[in-house]
Amino acid sequence: MKLAVFSAKPYDKVYLTQAAELAPDTGSNIEIIYHEFVLSSETVSLAAGASAVCVFVNDTLTEDVLTSLHSLGVRAILLRCAGYNNVDLKTASQLGLFVANVPAYSPEAVAEFAVALVQTLNRNTHRAYNRVREANFALDGLLGRTLHGKTVGIIGTGKIGVAFARIMQGFGCELLAHDPFPNPEFKKYGEYTTLENLLSRADVVSLHCPLLPPTRHIINESTLGMMKKNAMLVNTSRGGLIDTKAVIAALKKQQLGGLALDVYEHESAFFYNDHSGTIIEDDDLMRLTTFHNVLVCGHQAFFTEEALGEIAGATIRNLTDFVHGRECQNSLVQLTKEQGAAPITRGRSDTIPIRI
Ligand code: NAI
Repeated sequence: MKLAVFSAKPYDKVYLTQAAELAPDTGSNIEIIYHEFVLSSETVSLAAGASAVCVFVNDTLTEDVLTSLHSLGVRAILLRCAGYNNVDLKTASQLGLFVANVPAYSPEAVAEFAVALVQTLNRNTHRAYNRVREANFALDGLLGRTLHGKTVGIIGTGKIGVAFARIMQGFGCELLAHDPFPNPEFKKYGEYTTLENLLSRADVVSLHCPLLPPTRHIINESTLGMMKKNAMLVNTSRGGLIDTKAVIAALKKQQLGGLALDVYEHESAFFYNDHSGTIIEDDDLMRLTTFHNVLVCGHQAFFTEEALGEIAGATIRNLTDFVHGRECQNSLVQLTKEQGAAPITRGRSDTIPIRI
């Protein structure tokens, strides 16, 4: 079994190699080929000889790429992430490709990072760090707001949204949520409401829903207009949830009080690589980095030792389920018996994935 891993970083190599060695029923039978570049129509030919590919958030698996993979003999797509908006699941299903993700790996890792963004942006610790290194101990410009008693709005109350709610409740915040599929777990922490009501009341709005056609640009000129003046918006989910130009306009008008992003609409051209010696041509990204009340990180919310271990372990388990024709809890496409797949049973949050 040859597995071609795309967008492979040094840490991916460490954790995936270790997980493959530890896999009880395939072990050394998995030969892993690591490619540092993304999977796209330009690079797909490098999957030749592999039966499975392993991809990450910025690899693009369009109809063309999937068709090429299939004709090269690839039969399994392993996403080493939770989101799967970058995979054309309909085409994958038609081609009979096995596709599995890692739906739950330390949701706390992402939730904790969202809290870190809120805290950093609110209390300006990033600016304080730089000032103090230059012996500037002035407090002007570092004024924050006490979170205790503030209202936090959570859009999407799956695993990460609920983990975020649990932490924010500890801060003494009032919690509101919007989700078309309410999660009984959230009801311990706060109340569900409409998107409009949430936006008009929340001091902090945090996005934790997946990127799907109905959620693309869920934050746009109209919904930004509904937000409480001076509120903070946090996105650790997917860049496409926010209309970047609309958010820049809201920041310029001083309608939006702060923006913390771990993800960016057009991140695939930049994130996970060092562009410090090149000219960045994305004017929206560059504009965002000039606001004093905007914090941009490079899609690192998942990046903890625990999460990397869990991601690698689950990815290799998905692969071994495929190899042995076993039922795979993390399958994203329903294949027929003739297509070589075991039946799929999914949990609560997986009532939605086939919305393509
Ligand atoms: P999940 O599947 O457990 O929860 C997603 C929730 O969003 C569900 O409750 C669903 O009903 C809800 N939802 C769907 N449509 C909605 C809508 N229109 N409005 C409001 N809610 C809606 O997913 P999980 O594990 O909590 O992850 C959430 C997202 O976080 C993922 O889709 C992924 O894009 C992102 N993520 C980001 C990471 C990072 O490193 N920045 C790492 C892992 C995930």
